[in-house]
Amino acid sequence: MKFLEEINRRRTFGIISHPDAGKTTLTEKLLLFGGAIQEAGAVKSNKIKKGATSDFMEIERQRGISVATSVLAFEYKDIKINILDTPGHKDFAEDTFRTLTAVDSVIVVIDVAKGVEEQTEKLVSVCRMRNIPMIVFINKLDREGKDAFELLDEIEQKLGLTVTPLSFPIGMGYDFKGIYNIWEKNINLFSGDSRKNIEETIEVSDLQSADLDELVGENSANQLREELELVEGIYPTFEKEAYQNGSLQPVFFGSALNNFGVRELLDCFVSIAPPPKPKESDVRLVKPEEENFTGFVFKIHANMDPKHRDRLAFVKIVSGTFERNVPYLHTRHNKKLKFSSPNAFFAEKKEIVDISYPGDIVGLHDTGNFKIGDTLTKGEVLHYKGIPSFSPEHFRYINNADPMKSKQLAKGIDQLMDEGVAQLFTLEINGRKVIGTVGALQYEVIQYRLEHEYGAKCTYENLNVHKACWVDPEDPDNEEFKEFKRVKSKFLAKDKQGQLVFFADSSFSLQMTQQKYPSIQFHFTSEF
Ligand code: G4P
Repeated sequence: MKFLEEINRRRTFGIISHPDAGKTTLTEKLLLFGGAIQEAGAVKSNKIKKGATSDFMEIERQRGISVATSVLAFEYKDIKINILDTPGHKDFAEDTFRTLTAVDSVIVVIDVAKGVEEQTEKLVSVCRMRNIPMIVFINKLDREGKDAFELLDEIEQKLGLTVTPLSFPIGMGYDFKGIYNIWEKNINLFSGDSRKNIEETIEVSDLQSADLDELVGENSANQLREELELVEGIYPTFEKEAYQNGSLQPVFFGSALNNFGVRELLDCFVSIAPPPKPKESDVRLVKPEEENFTGFVFKIHANMDPKHRDRLAFVKIVSGTFERNVPYLHTRHNKKLKFSSPNAFFAEKKEIVDISYPGDIVGLHDTGNFKIGDTLTKGEVLHYKGIPSFSPEHFRYINNADPMKSKQLAKGIDQLMDEGVAQLFTLEINGRKVIGTVGALQYEVIQYRLEHEYGAKCTYENLNVHKACWVDPEDPDNEEFKEFKRVKSKFLAKDKQGQLVFFADSSFSLQMTQQKYPSIQFHFTSEF
């Protein structure tokens, strides 16, 4: 019985946003409510500072912070909340995509003045594909921004969401008076005092009552009445089920910096966000309440101390309980492994834990056994699906710059790729290695880490590739596929899993190739 209660009180989610929308600030305020931290400023931003691409200290600083903020856990109203860090910087987008395979819901933060930005669009589209429940938080209401209705329209159009506001702003910027909470039917007046931890709310059960005029002034009260009427007329009524299956997204307004509207968001979140969900594996659907443990690795973090090359593998528990010192099956290696010091994560620290439940994340010390996507079970042979690789945006040959250290280089590249820093391709024609990344910054990271952690040196050479496409022939033995392989041999490579990849040098050449070989499909992700 306790087991089921433990599952049902867990909420594991990620906050996604374009950099600067206020993800770090909101995270911090949520932790304050949970009593997990005592003061503002405790959560460090993992943002890459502008112009820092070649500043190695900055890279190390960022890595340090991203270990500390990988998972932040706290309790609120007897709910155990796990926030998984999702870097907003586009060069780390793939890290975020993978983390999204381990969340049960997300909160999307949008800047009221900037509206929907590029990274928000990308990340939300991934969540939409997976039907992840989303709550939208429109932030920085203390500043002048877009009209609320205009913004809701923009969110629907650019993000393809169906929204319904559960709170509504009264004024904005200089004239910001507060928020009407549609969900709880009360008003929260804005004082601009960010130190207030728990805000006072004023019950307003009848919008027509003169109390409202007294609270916010006649003009604002009348405007609010009109706006709420519009809201009711335009937007669908909130239904928990529609939210949980990803077809309806509630919206909240507030100011994270002023700790305003955050309590409303959190209260609604704990009452509507889903507990851990069942997950599809290659053989069957696995339910959280099953007795036997299963879980998967969604992130690997290298140790910050270059002298110790052990890493921390982050495992999301899907079913059963994970216990210390119990042997579990690493299904890719068909090997049993025991963990004497699994880490659980709390606000800013990690601690060794004896038992963890579905929805939780455990950090396992690893000396090179794991790669992203690996599955652990109590004994059953199954593999979790759904940690795809996306076509990188940048491609470079990697060359060995120190012939005495070729072994170290190979090992370093191998381990960094397992961590998911970048993708490695091997050209079919000559065996040359190509590194593909989402952002240019990763090349600096790889070069730096190869040197400092593995004692190897590398150089890069540019390679003109527009997209890497995973090749999926209808029939690998037909003449068309044989001809494709012969004609395009210079453009073919294998990824680290041995899957065949076609390097298209332009969108035009990709189109021509698709037309010429209609029985072959070209995919932009490794999962099809
Ligand atoms: P991110 O993690 O999404 O990248 O954003 P972060 O929380 O770091 O916030 C980005 C900037 O926006 C910060 O200012 C932060 O103080 C500010 N901010 C966050 N929420 C609000 C809000 O509700 N109102 C206003 N006016 N500003 C907000 P910064 O100047 O870049 O950093 P800092 O020097 O203040 O730390």
